[in-house]
Amino acid sequence: MSDSNAPIAVLFSGNGTNMQSVIKHAQQGRIRARIACVISNRADAYGLTRANNAGIPSHVVPHDQFASRELFEAELIRILESYEIETVVLAGFMRVFSEVFINRYANRILNIHPSLLPKYPGLGTHHRVLKAQESQHGCSVHFVTVGLDEGPLVLQAKVPVFETDDVHSLIRRVLEKEHIVFPLAIRWFCEGKLYCNDGTVYFNEKKLERPLQLTIAHKTELV
Ligand code: GAR
Repeated sequence: MSDSNAPIAVLFSGNGTNMQSVIKHAQQGRIRARIACVISNRADAYGLTRANNAGIPSHVVPHDQFASRELFEAELIRILESYEIETVVLAGFMRVFSEVFINRYANRILNIHPSLLPKYPGLGTHHRVLKAQESQHGCSVHFVTVGLDEGPLVLQAKVPVFETDDVHSLIRRVLEKEHIVFPLAIRWFCEGKLYCNDGTVYFNEKKLERPLQLTIAHKTELV
């Protein structure tokens, strides 16, 4: 459980709109934590500009400049430890972690994924949803474990899929929800309202049997 100034790190690989949403909510006091630093594995990620504009220290750790995943992760851990980070949030961070990293931050890594997990883990979710002619899509926040997008689910938001949708319209609709559910789950985690133990998620001290679904009442918590 984090104190009010608990330092958090956001890891990302690209545009960084989720990272920006997390920074905004933390800076406005809706997440009881301080975004101490952000790390990108890509030097050309636009999110770096967003972090810079928000006055958050940023680091680039290019995965392809390390001889192994272990060395790449050792550098991530070195940076995280230099900020005394114990909570890591993945906002579009497109690398898979080894057991070493996961165990170092066990039960303290949250990820946002653009699908209603367990459906559509991995990449290209919007394209696959359109191809399968699904009528519903969405996003999920989950704790990160070793399996790709397999960790215990916390919170989901659904969106409709229309016949007129293309990948871009669907991305926009889902991202809008991502920018709500991710800061909300992080807020709960930082308040100690949400935690994970032995693969089980607890919310308000009760075992979560299935992921929470975003409601209007939840949304008001972020206003
Ligand atoms: C988001 O849609 C996020 O859910 C996804 O990458 C995008 C990043 O957008 N993450 C994954 O696919 C992880 N498996 P952003 O850079 O604008 O936040």
